[in-house]
Amino acid sequence: MKIGEAFSRRRSIRKFKSEPVPRELIGQVLEAATLAPSGKNAQPWEFIVLEGVDKEKIAALMVAGAEQLEASGYNSGSARNSAQIVQNAQAVIMVYNPRQKRDAKLTPLRRIMWSVDTQSVGAAIQNLLLKAVELGLGSLWICDVFVAEEQISAWLGRKDEMIAAVALGWPDEEPAPRPRKPWQQVTHWGRGH
Ligand SMILES: Cc1cc2nc3c(=O)[nH]c(=O)nc-3n(C[C@H](O)[C@H](O)[C@H](O)COP(=O)(O)O)c2cc1C
Repeated sequence: MKIGEAFSRRRSIRKFKSEPVPRELIGQVLEAATLAPSGKNAQPWEFIVLEGVDKEKIAALMVAGAEQLEASGYNSGSARNSAQIVQNAQAVIMVYNPRQKRDAKLTPLRRIMWSVDTQSVGAAIQNLLLKAVELGLGSLWICDVFVAEEQISAWLGRKDEMIAAVALGWPDEEPAPRPRKPWQQVTHWGRGH
């Protein structure tokens, strides 16, 4: 598959078939993730692949996190919906940055490193999503896991920084492309505009 085709065919997939995804294919998407560039080639990423009851635990922790927010009078946004998607996916890949401690106090240099790391992990996740397209897999980049950040990290025994989750499975929907601002609208040639 040409890279441009993967760009334009990729969609956030929120409905998955029940057929399992072979681990070999999950390995392929993760290998693609690790080919991403990273600041100083630090490769600030670790992936935890959760299937079956472990994956369901993530969904349950997200629902509990949403309930806790709502009980405190906050809006839980799309968290419950995302939890349901995790529940129905074949696997959820938790993405962590082992170079950053959770809630660490950031000196100016560490603040820059944090931004560099975050951008690097984003590139890795995008590689993963594009490889999934090539393999015919559906994926969803999920940040709603942050409603249960502490609980998920504690359950996984992680003291480092949670970045995101990616749900994976065989797609059971073909969503139309979601609208994009034309590149001309978000691009400025030179300073004056
Ligand atoms: C950093 C990031 C976090 C996201 N978190 C969620 C999420 O928690 N739940 C969800 O349903 N979609 C999530 N998405 C998917 C976006 O909603 C989606 O990419 C966007 O609407 C554009 O649609 P498309 O991916 O099909 O082009 C996230 C996407 C990104 C890049």
